[in-house]
Amino acid sequence: MKKTMMIFLGPPGSGKGTQTAPLSEKLDIPVISTGALFREEVEKGTNIGKLVEEKMNNGELISTDITNEILEKRLESPDTEKGFILDGYPRKEDQIDYALKNINKIIDNGGQVFVFYIDVSDSTVNERITGRRSCDCGKNFHTKFNPPKESGICDDCHSPLIQRGDDSEEAVVKRLEEFHKGNKPVLEFFQDKKYFYRIDGERDIEEIREEIEAIINKD
Ligand code: AP5
Ligand code: MG
Repeated sequence: MKKTMMIFLGPPGSGKGTQTAPLSEKLDIPVISTGALFREEVEKGTNIGKLVEEKMNNGELISTDITNEILEKRLESPDTEKGFILDGYPRKEDQIDYALKNINKIIDNGGQVFVFYIDVSDSTVNERITGRRSCDCGKNFHTKFNPPKESGICDDCHSPLIQRGDDSEEAVVKRLEEFHKGNKPVLEFFQDKKYFYRIDGERDIEEIREEIEAIINKD
């Protein structure tokens, strides 16, 4: 298979994590979520973790310097050799350059690129985020739309599920505001590219997954 780079854009709770997980398994390439990388730093109590924790819990975006530093380091890992899936990057105008640098590198070397934008309304975001239950292993569930087999327990690793620190009502308002402001120029930049696909995210998880797979298989 050609080296594959995918980017998943979309508001908080649009389903980026939900859709990237099975793709990663199927294609055997890692998902690199900048949000998850930051949560790891917070958990480990590193300097970066200390710098970003409060901002994340308030629903604010992190500076591009720090975001690029952490992403660049992650992309050096040998598991990205066959490709990778970026979840939640680029998220604002000054992140487009670094994303594009990677896109061009893949295309110039004969690889393939897909940019998906999962489109959902703000009211859907609220419903999805309040019901979300997350596991440290990266798997997400929803109390109503995607419940675990056993309430409060991860289907995969059987650890207790938690609610993320930035899933409070106040933080979600701020996250949406920051998302719309940052994402506007990103969407304007990508929307006319031949590798860009807008996905209607207001449908069932399975239906969306099938559409994404069909797009990938067609190319
Ligand atoms: P990040 O972790 O990326 O959070 P986010 O973008 O707010 O997105 P979420 O992870 O909340 O949602 P998701 O789209 O993955 O949805 P999910 O699949 O879980 O970032 C966190 C923070 O890190 C940011 O706020 C910022 O501070 C910082 N950060 C990260 N990247 C950055 C960057 N590039 N620059 C600067 N700062 C950055 O689904 C949500 C729920 O809905 C789940 O319960 C799921 O089961 C359910 N669900 C999913 N799909 C469906 C469906 N189709 N129907 C019904 N339910 C569904
Ligand atoms: Mg996510």
